[in-house]
Amino acid sequence: MIPKIASLSTFEAFTTHLERLGIELPADEHVDAAGALASPIEIDGRVAANRFVALPMEGWDGTDDGRPSDLVRRRWSRIGAGGASVVWGEATAVRSDGRANANQLVLRPEFVEDFASLRSLLAPDQIAGLQLTHSGRYAKPTPRVAYRHPILADDDHAVFTDDELDELAAQYVDAAALAAEAGFDFVDVKHCHGYLLHELLSAYDRRGRYGGDLSGRTRFLRTVVDGIRTRAPELRVAVRFSMFDFVPFRKGPDETGEPRDSAPYRHAFGGDGSGTGVDLSEPNAFLDVLEELGIELVCTTAGSPYTNPHIQRPAYFPPSDGYLPPEDPLVGVARQIAATAELQRRHPKVAIVGSGYSYLQEWLPHVAQAVVRTGGASMIGLGRMMLAYPSFPSDVLEGRGTNRRALCRTFSDCTTAPRNGMISGCYPLDPFYKERDERKRLVQLKKHN
Ligand SMILES: Cc1cc2nc3c(=O)[nH]c(=O)nc-3n(C[C@H](O)[C@H](O)[C@H](O)COP(=O)(O)O)c2cc1C
Ligand code: SF4
Repeated sequence: MIPKIASLSTFEAFTTHLERLGIELPADEHVDAAGALASPIEIDGRVAANRFVALPMEGWDGTDDGRPSDLVRRRWSRIGAGGASVVWGEATAVRSDGRANANQLVLRPEFVEDFASLRSLLAPDQIAGLQLTHSGRYAKPTPRVAYRHPILADDDHAVFTDDELDELAAQYVDAAALAAEAGFDFVDVKHCHGYLLHELLSAYDRRGRYGGDLSGRTRFLRTVVDGIRTRAPELRVAVRFSMFDFVPFRKGPDETGEPRDSAPYRHAFGGDGSGTGVDLSEPNAFLDVLEELGIELVCTTAGSPYTNPHIQRPAYFPPSDGYLPPEDPLVGVARQIAATAELQRRHPKVAIVGSGYSYLQEWLPHVAQAVVRTGGASMIGLGRMMLAYPSFPSDVLEGRGTNRRALCRTFSDCTTAPRNGMISGCYPLDPFYKERDERKRLVQLKKHN
């Protein structure tokens, strides 16, 4: 039986449980509002006032043509007011057919004003980024892949040719130039969560210019960054990447997650070949490439929300298409924190933002402070916690402590809703979403699951 975090009500109970699990997680007993989390940090010539980063959190709620809607603006305003020094804006497609859903944002020339007004919802001294994406095998309605996968069914998906990737790289550069025009400080050339550029990182068997060795598998990134440096030299470039991956998981006979295949698995970037182990040699080499490209801001994450959500967003309650956690979710949190710490130690000049902290709930500030204080990451990314409790950073930084009733309890409704064609949002805790009709549909859905 996995204990809920809320039941680990003292620091001793929390650390004793970590010991029982046999995992190491840095944690400070006392959080100092003026301590490590409040210390400014210089990134690429700009100063971030504190160590909290609002992670990209899309809502499946843009307009049909890809502009920000009122729901998007509401989310950005709330996140902006929450006090994180960096706001890493959500996944935004570089072209319409690269969207993961029909309501994902798209950066097109005629939308620059809309994106400029989105940026203006954040404070001028907040560092604002936009995550550029092509959803690859998750693109709707027409999935496109970097290579054929041995386990994921994709026989009917077209494989991008090298020439098509050349064209796509130019579209990334166009989108980056538009983001600069809209007033964003950086763009993220997204390489995570099973989307196209993450898939390119594991395109070991792909022939041609964009596969094979690490140089081939990072050619796309290098082409895009070179293009941005020429077209929008003032724009900073960041990268969010899945530092390791596992074999796809599925629901086992007792609903617990299990690997879909037990054979050796060579398609996991940052994997050790077993399908469920980590080897950071390539991710470290990838960070060398990022440093050579002058990239000073990197966000780490893991796996994919579609094929192995427990390593990507550790949760107590699975989304409707997920499975019961095959491990205590704290193991997943610790796995990401340990891997990030190793990458940060080997790349001290890069500002690395860690992810996967929301599951820590009450203990998030304690772990976050210890991680920053011991150099395990430069900054702490907050995903689901920002949806549930957008003022979390300012409550911690202004010494108010956390409001237990506002904490994200990893109910996964923000994932279940979009998986069933609804907009995302924190249905259990945000009164605005609680009152929407979708909430009733979600309750029904969960009853029948
Ligand atoms: C509803 C939802 C939307 C998300 N949208 C994005 C996104 O647009 N881009 C991205 O890189 N990650 C996205 N993520 C992943 C989060 O940024 C984050 O990595 C993940 O939730 C784990 O961090 P946490 O434990 O703080 O939630 C999303 C996650 C959720 C639950
Ligand atoms: S729906 Fe709310 S409480 Fe549930 S995981 Fe998402 S942010 Fe957390």
